[in-house]
Amino acid sequence: MAKSARYAIGIDIGGTGIKGGVVDCKKGKLLGKRCKEATPPGAAIADVRAAVLTLLERIRAQELDTKVPALDTLPIGICMPAVIRHGRSMSAANIAPDWVGFDARSMFVEALGTPVSLVNDADAAGVAEVKFGNADAAQGSVLVLTLGTGIGSALVYRGDLFPNTELGHMELDGHTDYERYASAKVREREGIDDATWCARLSPYFRKLEALFSPDVFVISGGISKRATEFIPLIDVDTPIVPAKLKNNAGIIGAALLGASGWELSLIHISEPTRPRL
Ligand code: BGC
Repeated sequence: MAKSARYAIGIDIGGTGIKGGVVDCKKGKLLGKRCKEATPPGAAIADVRAAVLTLLERIRAQELDTKVPALDTLPIGICMPAVIRHGRSMSAANIAPDWVGFDARSMFVEALGTPVSLVNDADAAGVAEVKFGNADAAQGSVLVLTLGTGIGSALVYRGDLFPNTELGHMELDGHTDYERYASAKVREREGIDDATWCARLSPYFRKLEALFSPDVFVISGGISKRATEFIPLIDVDTPIVPAKLKNNAGIIGAALLGASGWELSLIHISEPTRPRL
């Protein structure tokens, strides 16, 4: 794989907002503004495409330090809440169903007129957290969980990602899709308190602990801002730490993977098939 670029643009397509910015991939930091567009209701392909284009124009319109190359020459990484196999989005838990089986990366390459790396949003956040968040985590096995609209997961061992784990959709205790019972959005929608929410998260974390024996869990997503308030209520032996990059983890991780040309150099082993989530 070619040497990673120092600067890249990261774009994080989420359930409520599409966020992005220019990232210094050596420091794991955003340079300039963090730009945001609302996620179009229903997140249909054409609407998301248009919103990403608007966002990119705003990101590129900034005046940054002269040491950063011209912004329209920077590599771009995009992350979104779907299984991404060889550039195709293969699932659509919280986005429009027309993304399933769609060649999303080619669409973005054509729309943005530049090579694009496309990855799952939790995978992007996980890579960034392990690289720039928790130094201990980089040495061992880490399970990063993003608690937001859904539950996303990233499995990282010594800095290397095993992509598309989708552990939020696990079936447990009669709940066929656990994120629909225990995501941060469900907590908000049902108006339950932290103790009730963590009583739902505890069996989930214990199951993941039994299956993967990670050295540490990292909790990411918007909720990680106040993670220290509820982490002690989750009953599991493995240490849980809050993400350090907070809401920017997806942007930074997407940029890192974009800068390294993630997936662009992978060989197509077979035509991707849709996972049964
Ligand atoms: C999606 C995952 C995503 C997670 C967090 C889940 O519903 O299936 O792909 O990572 O939400 O956004």
